[in-house]
Amino acid sequence: MIYDLARPLLFALDPERAHRAAIAALQAGLVPRAAPSDPTLKRTVMGLEFPNPLGVAAGFDKNAEVVDAALALGFGFVEVGSVTPRPQPGNPKPRVFRSVADRALVNRLGFNSEGHDAVYARLTRRAPRGIVGVNLGANKDSPDRVADYAQGVTRFSDVASYLAINISSPNTPGLRDLQEKEGLARLLAAVAEARERAPRRAPIVVKIAPDLDDEALPAVCEAIIAAGMDGMIVANTTLSRVGLSNTRIAAESGGMSGRPLFAPSNKLLTRTRALVGARLALIGTGGIDSATAARQKLLAGADLIQLYTGMIYEGPELPGRIVAGLAKRG
Ligand SMILES: Cc1cc2nc3c(=O)[nH]c(=O)nc-3n(C[C@H](O)[C@H](O)[C@H](O)COP(=O)(O)O)c2cc1C
Repeated sequence: MIYDLARPLLFALDPERAHRAAIAALQAGLVPRAAPSDPTLKRTVMGLEFPNPLGVAAGFDKNAEVVDAALALGFGFVEVGSVTPRPQPGNPKPRVFRSVADRALVNRLGFNSEGHDAVYARLTRRAPRGIVGVNLGANKDSPDRVADYAQGVTRFSDVASYLAINISSPNTPGLRDLQEKEGLARLLAAVAEARERAPRRAPIVVKIAPDLDDEALPAVCEAIIAAGMDGMIVANTTLSRVGLSNTRIAAESGGMSGRPLFAPSNKLLTRTRALVGARLALIGTGGIDSATAARQKLLAGADLIQLYTGMIYEGPELPGRIVAGLAKRG
């Protein structure tokens, strides 16, 4: 497999440079093309027909540069973003760290984004095919973060298959406070209102943090249901360092993703499913790096699943392999 050769070269680079190289390779078409997914994997969720349940998680294609290439890798859907209204550079570098032995990553990118205009232009330039979600963020220096999300809903409702409200990045100070009760109700009311005004009613999911405590989760789920949202993404990166053996990386601030996030995010997913029943669609995200892990995530209560970090360690053939594995054993 070609990634066996490419991986040592990529891992010799700073993780962010390696990611740029991966994006460039995808843009150049230097990547495997997966077979079309087995028709038995088709499913309709939030009124959208997905060819298979595996998507690429937000953060991989923040600026919608490689949507079609990502679909060609075998993903059943792509979530671009997070996108902020105005372009912003994010935090100072270095800001992404690998822990190879743990198959984990710590990042504190801080919503580096080319902004709504650039991402919207790219999405409208491509032929509309496949399922493409747009994950919305807020500018770091925004005087009104609620308005930033509402603006995102207004802007992207016509080009996005669905919208994701990301209030769980640990890298924008104060952002996660939007998960708290009153703030959340106010935010979701503004988002719902923006959707009603838009020409197309896009499904909306809310992406939560895996660090929400057991007491807070029921109120968060209720607020999401009460506001008429369609689903949740469970979950974003964690502030926890449990399962990270590399103490140098563990000391870096930011959110941890990858294999150590698998068990805790599954636990949260199962709790969330128990709370919401069939009232919301759930997208399970965190630590998927094999067909077995993908199946476990679905069994934990997900309608759809997503991955990012697993592909760094397993290579671009991972989505095709997972989708084929899911089809084989049903
Ligand atoms: C480098 C990096 C950047 C990310 N950027 C975003 C982002 O912009 N918005 C977002 O909602 N999630 C972002 N995430 C979180 C992922 O979408 C996902 O929720 C998390 O990494 C867990 O999945 P994984 O273990 O398969 O990577 C990012 C993750 C990584 C590793």
